[in-house]
Amino acid sequence: MDRPNWAPDEVDLAHPSVARVYDYYLGGSHNFESDRQFADRVLGVLPEMAAVAQQNRAFLRRSVRYLCQTGIDQFLDLGSGIPTAGNVHEIVGSFSPRSRVLYVDHDPVAVMHSRELLAGNEQTEVMAADLAEPDRVLADPALRNHLDLSRPMAVLLVSVLHFVADDLRPAEIIRTYMDALPRGSHLVISHASHEGNDNAAGAQAIYNQQRSPNPMRMRTSAEVTELFGDLTLVDPGVVRIPTWRPDSPAGAGPASDRYPGHAGVAFG
Ligand SMILES: C[S@@+](CC[C@H](N)C(=O)[O-])C[C@H]1O[C@@H](n2cnc3c(N)ncnc32)[C@H](O)[C@@H]1O
Repeated sequence: MDRPNWAPDEVDLAHPSVARVYDYYLGGSHNFESDRQFADRVLGVLPEMAAVAQQNRAFLRRSVRYLCQTGIDQFLDLGSGIPTAGNVHEIVGSFSPRSRVLYVDHDPVAVMHSRELLAGNEQTEVMAADLAEPDRVLADPALRNHLDLSRPMAVLLVSVLHFVADDLRPAEIIRTYMDALPRGSHLVISHASHEGNDNAAGAQAIYNQQRSPNPMRMRTSAEVTELFGDLTLVDPGVVRIPTWRPDSPAGAGPASDRYPGHAGVAFG
């Protein structure tokens, strides 16, 4: 397999990565043959997966816009992914030129491409880290020099917690982040689900095949609600992703009791 000149040396081209597979669903160009083959298998059982990824990005944009309108101007985007159209820093920059965004990802392609895109942008920083190590992330000078922990901020966990297994205790991870932040801070979650959707369960099985580098744990609406802990959910609570404050009634899209994902926003 030819190695593209943009591929960081440490990347193993033979094994798909969550970040690059998602880039492929979104029509991006930072993916390899192994990612495309893997994604095509998922699309074989869940043909709407590409549209689901687009709906997830649309939710990200709507929720960030909502937060900007409530006055939030600092964003900690955990599992930020490979940059694509409508990135968080673009949305928040259009509300407040002084807003701050910290992108955190553990995927070398996501980190490298984010750094390239953001070179010279003082409002936005990129950190290579494992979000499942909140104490380490919160103590990192890259975070402390960029975000003001004495002022409210939003923590974004968008389409990433289904890659955090139960034994890593995702609810405790989230609580550690939120407990470190002042009142008025917000949490955004979108999460894959197989509730009422056997095809989504089939997609999860592909991610969980033997020796998978990307195991997946889809969660039900009740389980996603639990992840918010004692935070206060804003209307409409935890709902199927397209129905979280759609831009228009028609914009809600093909949501149904089968839609393979839930989302919500809460504050503490
Ligand atoms: C499906 S993508 C979502 C990207 C973006 N949040 C969005 O919604 O468009 C998931 C991202 O989370 C990252 N990720 C998964 N587990 C992670 C972890 N433990 N620490 C940091 N990043 C992680 C992946 O590398 C990938 O870039």
